[in-house]
Amino acid sequence: MLTDSDKKLVLQVWEKVIRHPDCGAEALERLFTTYPQTKTYFPHFDLHHGSDQVRNHGKKVLAALGNAVKSLGNLSQALSDLSDLHAYNLRVDPVNFKLLAQCFHVVLATHLGNDYTPEAHAAFDKFLSAVCTVLAEKYR
Ligand code: HEM
Repeated sequence: MLTDSDKKLVLQVWEKVIRHPDCGAEALERLFTTYPQTKTYFPHFDLHHGSDQVRNHGKKVLAALGNAVKSLGNLSQALSDLSDLHAYNLRVDPVNFKLLAQCFHVVLATHLGNDYTPEAHAAFDKFLSAVCTVLAEKYR
C-alpha cells in the first residue's frame, strides 16, 4: 500500500523519468541481457542493441507506467486491459514482472544518480510491486 508520502515520491521520480524517454528500452535491454530466458516471449522482435522494436516497445511500457502513475489510487482499473493481455494472450509468467522491475531500478539509478535516494527507491519499488501485482491478478 502506497502512503501519501510514497505517492509524492513516485510523482517526483516520474517527473525525472520522463526526461529519459529511452529508459523503458534500456530496462528491456537489461532484462533480455541479464535474464535471457525472458527473450522467449519476444521471438518476433529484433533484440539487438539499438533495435527500433525494443525502442518502441520501451516507449509503450513507459507510457503504461506513466498512466499508472496518474492512477495511483486505482491501479487495478487503470491496468485492467494490460493485465488481461499479459495473462490471457501473452501468458507471461508473473516472475518476469519482478525481473523487469529490478532492471528498472538499475536504469533509474544510472540516470538519476544521487537523486534516486533510498527513500525514492523504496517508494518506486512499492509502486512497481503494485503494478506487478495488478498485472499478475488475472492469473488466479
Ligand atoms: C506488450 C506493458 C512486463 C511481455 C506490452 C504492452 C505494454 C506492456 C504497454 C503493449 C500493449 C499493446 O500493444 O496494446 C508492460 C508493463 C510491464 C510489462 C507495464 C511491467 C512493468 C512484461 C514482461 C514481459 C512482457 C515482464 C515478458 C518477459 C510482453 C509481450 C508483449 C507485451 C511479449 C507483446 C509485444 C508485441 O508483440 O508487440 N507490455 N509489460 N511484458 N509485453 Fe509487457
